[in-house]
Amino acid sequence: MALQDTTPLSEDALNHAAQSIIAGNDRGGYTVPTASLYPYQWNWDSAIVAMGFAAFDLDRAWTEIETLMAHQWPDGMIPHIIFHQEVPSYFPGPSVWGTGRPVPTSGHSQPPVAAFCAEELLKRNHSPENLERASRVFDALMRWHRWWHDYRDPGGLGVVAITHPWESGRDNSSDWDDALEAVDGSNVEPYERRDLQHVDAAMRPTHEEYNRYIALVEFGRSLGWNARDIGTRNPFFVADPGCTFILLAADRALMRIAQTLKKIDDMPIIEEWIARAEAGCQRLWDKDQQTFTALDLRSSRHGQGVSNAALLCFFAETGTPAQKRAMLSHYDRIREKTGFGVPSHDPDSPVFDAKRYWRGPVWAFMNMMIGRGLLAHGHIREAMQVWDDTRTLIRDAGFAEYFDCNTGNPAGGVAFSWTAATWLQYGAVGAPWAPGAVPTSL
Ligand code: GLC
Repeated sequence: MALQDTTPLSEDALNHAAQSIIAGNDRGGYTVPTASLYPYQWNWDSAIVAMGFAAFDLDRAWTEIETLMAHQWPDGMIPHIIFHQEVPSYFPGPSVWGTGRPVPTSGHSQPPVAAFCAEELLKRNHSPENLERASRVFDALMRWHRWWHDYRDPGGLGVVAITHPWESGRDNSSDWDDALEAVDGSNVEPYERRDLQHVDAAMRPTHEEYNRYIALVEFGRSLGWNARDIGTRNPFFVADPGCTFILLAADRALMRIAQTLKKIDDMPIIEEWIARAEAGCQRLWDKDQQTFTALDLRSSRHGQGVSNAALLCFFAETGTPAQKRAMLSHYDRIREKTGFGVPSHDPDSPVFDAKRYWRGPVWAFMNMMIGRGLLAHGHIREAMQVWDDTRTLIRDAGFAEYFDCNTGNPAGGVAFSWTAATWLQYGAVGAPWAPGAVPTSL
């Protein structure tokens, strides 16, 4: 539902609207991000949506995560899209990916947010049934996290790389611009973009970027989606601050779940992952720019500018005190230059674009993670500001996919599941320390 009325809705009405959006996007066992633009199950969307469901239907919340885990590959990967049923109006569909899975899926993953989403569900109660469901999900998560550590960090550097911009979930972030230059998009099979039938082209990636995205899909398909081969041969292999910080936060959540469930044998493994990542995150620090950035593992070049993913360092609980101070001052500088925080890209960057997807707009669920991290580190003023911005955007512009960071206008798709879930999880009762909003162990 797009809230186009200019009268602000009451808290109750917003809660109700958020629940209706999620219920309306529920396809039975899984939820689509939004009805026409994204007609399948997306990995990190689905995990965030489970947290939204948990606010009113815990059983359905578990089902969302269980459906996701049920499509895990034999090597442990959980794919970024599950094509439960073919929708011809979507591109690139199952035949372009050619993964040969019984239920077709895409061929790479997406940021591993599911562990801390599952932790939220487990925290709600410790009934035998809840513990049992958590235990099964935990086992699948262990296999998935191991896949990230093995195949997306083959050199044991403590940072995880993405093999396609879509794997980062931040599709057209400028973090990938340089690395994408090395991908030849000139010879891709002819195709027709379908996203532009739903959304204004000014809010989506350019055609040139899109050709390169498709070239990478064709390359993965030519390697039979073998994760080991992709790790060594893919022309695009970029350590992502988003996935690296999210995986570290998720490993910490996995450790807390292991403690609750007494999964003793798994603990030393998770501990090792955490230790390696804590050291590895330093590789993402660019001294010249004084920020965490992407690192192209093929060319050793850093990305330019401060992204909202870099600000997830607080959520991951990583960085030296000096680095954290630098990131906080970036936050203040950036917030002063935009109408609303946290923009997905640095307004001082030449490629900043307030309404183009991951090059400037605000994404509510990213704010939820950034805000939680800031709050856990005692940066109350900044955490409150992030929450106020998120709340104002949703209240005034509705449950949009993302928001123009200068005007606050809704952008992309409408009636978006994860924006609704963020509202329900992050503080439907009006504060970031609403039940479930703050990880108790941070
Ligand atoms: C876009 C976003 C990605 C998201 C998907 C479905 O591709 O960049 O992060 O998962 O849409 O909402």
